[in-house]
Amino acid sequence: MRIIRYLKESKAAVALVIVLLIAQAFADLSLPRLTSDLVDVGIQQAGVEDAAPEAVRSSMFEALCMLAPAEDESFIRACYEQADDGTCRLNEQGEKRRDELDERIATPFALAYFAQTASAREDLASDAPIDLDALTDAYAQGAVSKDDVLAMADAALSAVSGADESLVAQQAVSAAKAEYEQLGYDMDSMQMRYLLGIGGRMLAVAALMTAAAIAVGYIASRTAAGVAKRLRERLFAKVLSFSDADVQKFSAASLITRATNDIQQIQMVVTVLLRMVLYAPILAIGGIVMVSRTDASMSWIIVVAVAAIFATVAVLMGLAMPKFKVMQKLIDRVNLVSREILTGLPVIRAFGRQEYEEGRFDQASTALMRTQLFTNRVMTFMMPAMMLVMNAVSVLIVWVGGFSIDAGTIQTGDMIAFITYSMVIIMSFLMLGMVSIMLPRADVAAKRVNEVLAAPCSIADPAEPESLAEPRSEGVEIVFDDVTFSYDEESDPVLSHVSFTAEAGKTTAVIGSTGSGKSTVIKLVERFYDVDSGSVRVDGVDVRAMAQHDLRAQFGYVPQKAFLFSGTIADTVGYSDPSMGEERMRAAVELAQAADFVAEREEGMLAPVAQGGSNVSGGQRQRLSIARALAADVRAYLFDDSFSALDYKTDARLRAAIAEGLRGKTVLIVAQRISTVLTADRIVVLENGSVAGCGTHDELMRTCETYREIALSQLSEEELKGGGSL
Ligand SMILES: Nc1ncnc2c1ncn2[C@@H]1O[C@H](COP(=O)(O)OP(=O)(O)OP(=O)(O)O)[C@@H](O)[C@H]1O
Ligand SMILES: [Mg+2]
Repeated sequence: MRIIRYLKESKAAVALVIVLLIAQAFADLSLPRLTSDLVDVGIQQAGVEDAAPEAVRSSMFEALCMLAPAEDESFIRACYEQADDGTCRLNEQGEKRRDELDERIATPFALAYFAQTASAREDLASDAPIDLDALTDAYAQGAVSKDDVLAMADAALSAVSGADESLVAQQAVSAAKAEYEQLGYDMDSMQMRYLLGIGGRMLAVAALMTAAAIAVGYIASRTAAGVAKRLRERLFAKVLSFSDADVQKFSAASLITRATNDIQQIQMVVTVLLRMVLYAPILAIGGIVMVSRTDASMSWIIVVAVAAIFATVAVLMGLAMPKFKVMQKLIDRVNLVSREILTGLPVIRAFGRQEYEEGRFDQASTALMRTQLFTNRVMTFMMPAMMLVMNAVSVLIVWVGGFSIDAGTIQTGDMIAFITYSMVIIMSFLMLGMVSIMLPRADVAAKRVNEVLAAPCSIADPAEPESLAEPRSEGVEIVFDDVTFSYDEESDPVLSHVSFTAEAGKTTAVIGSTGSGKSTVIKLVERFYDVDSGSVRVDGVDVRAMAQHDLRAQFGYVPQKAFLFSGTIADTVGYSDPSMGEERMRAAVELAQAADFVAEREEGMLAPVAQGGSNVSGGQRQRLSIARALAADVRAYLFDDSFSALDYKTDARLRAAIAEGLRGKTVLIVAQRISTVLTADRIVVLENGSVAGCGTHDELMRTCETYREIALSQLSEEELKGGGSL
């Protein structure tokens, strides 16, 4: 089981929980026993616990000794001492071996008591099994032998009670009670004492049980929360190491569900596992042991009940299980749709597609609701069915037990205890049944989490990464050597046989029409993807041979779609180095032509930036994104179409500033505008993923048809507008 594996790191807590659960089960199981005592001894026997009384009249003592077999007689005599007031009192040995004494004294005592009361009453005198006084006298004079007495006693006994042991014991206790009354004991206070004693014990046991349950709950919750936290951390770390392709494979929405909902499922089940799954067997075994000690004749009822419970659980599980599996996928779907709708809200409004999107969301949400309703409906049958079983069991036990009580084979308290133990046993199986529903569900969740954890990262560091040689210059050299690449294996390559060199300290531009593979080139330099064939080398080292961190530390990257994290402008610009000084940030902002707009803000560098940069304009966002890259102390800068949202004037100023400020560094600029690339040391023209030409502007104007087409179309356009910065 995957879930159990998560608990490996919390062995101590699990051990502690087991100890506490045993304590709880012990307390739980002793309560019915105490209740039974309360009823049987405390109420029915008026608080008289033992058949062997503390004190007995000498005449009665002699009579019962006579009626006892020889070896019992000597044992009984050894347990009592003659006192001065004409009674026999329990001595030390008697106290110590009271249980054994109870057993041995019961029959003769009950018999003697019965004979005495019978003969004392006129109407019963003729029924008296033995004429006790006469017999005692005869025995004392040696007229009757011990064997004769015993034979007589046997006959009398079977006539009276059928020689049932528990009945005899009860009668012996009544005898003891009568004896106490004869001796003038205060029976009420005796009973009260007993009731208080047993009540106190019950309270203590209940307190122990509560304390154990609370402690278990606390530890279980902590452990489960810890398990969930560790899982989330691992999942998050793993996702951070994922390449774009890996994230796409799972989909961001699904990754979010896995990190939240799925892990929550696991957490819940771990709690339940610690509290119930461990408790149920302890309780069930304990309950069975106690029941077998109480009375085994009704055990079949428990077996039938447990079978009924398992049958119910099996049926419900069979119905609900397949739906549980689907549920997680549906939650994924709801997440996916709502994420998409929320991010695309302005577009939805602009195109007036609210109704359509509502419908789409509704569809996903309804599908989830239907499944949840179904499973919940099925599950609602669970409780009533279980209650039915439990109540039926109670009735059955009272029914069957009633006959036994009538026949005198068990006492009322025993039956109450039996009912409680049966409930305990049934409850524990019920718990197992419920858990058996939750477990597979959580298992689905665990499987989904593990899928992510076990997924190989398509971009991984080599076992022994090569480090870059001591930098020869301020800039790095980036070489594309016959690179062919496609995003997925089936489709046509996005780049085929691309070769060019971005020389150290020079500015290299990549130009081409939309979809020609320009952004892909940058992504390959950053090694967001691995090439299919050929190689990308940085300072002569294949990017795949380096540690990703070392590689990326060389570059300042401005993505095509500027993404800003929430925080202040200072946080944004200083993203590459949290300890970055204010000066450097300001320089970067200045260089990125963002100084004006930062100055406009009241808070200046501390002005807030919303998540995704949604509270700044597209051009401002792009400039902050550029400033973020420029602030990094690196040897090469990668601009992926980063000037597209800027007006021509700002674009020109920015390029001039960069040319000045980044002297000596390698710059790789991707652009669609000719004006952006004009001054580059080298221009690479991409067409449908292939290099169509490579050289300076003048060279390309002469030799490269594709470049000339792009250039002519744009130059004339600008000239028409009359705003060209050329
Ligand atoms: N993550 C991706 N998965 C699959 N295909 C992709 C992915 N990203 C880009 N492509 C495809 O690769 C090709 C090149 O994309 P790329 O983003 O490199 O173009 P580009 O030259 O940067 O275009 P633009 O000028 O519009 O930014 C396109 O045909 C695009 O459909
Ligand atoms: Mg692009």
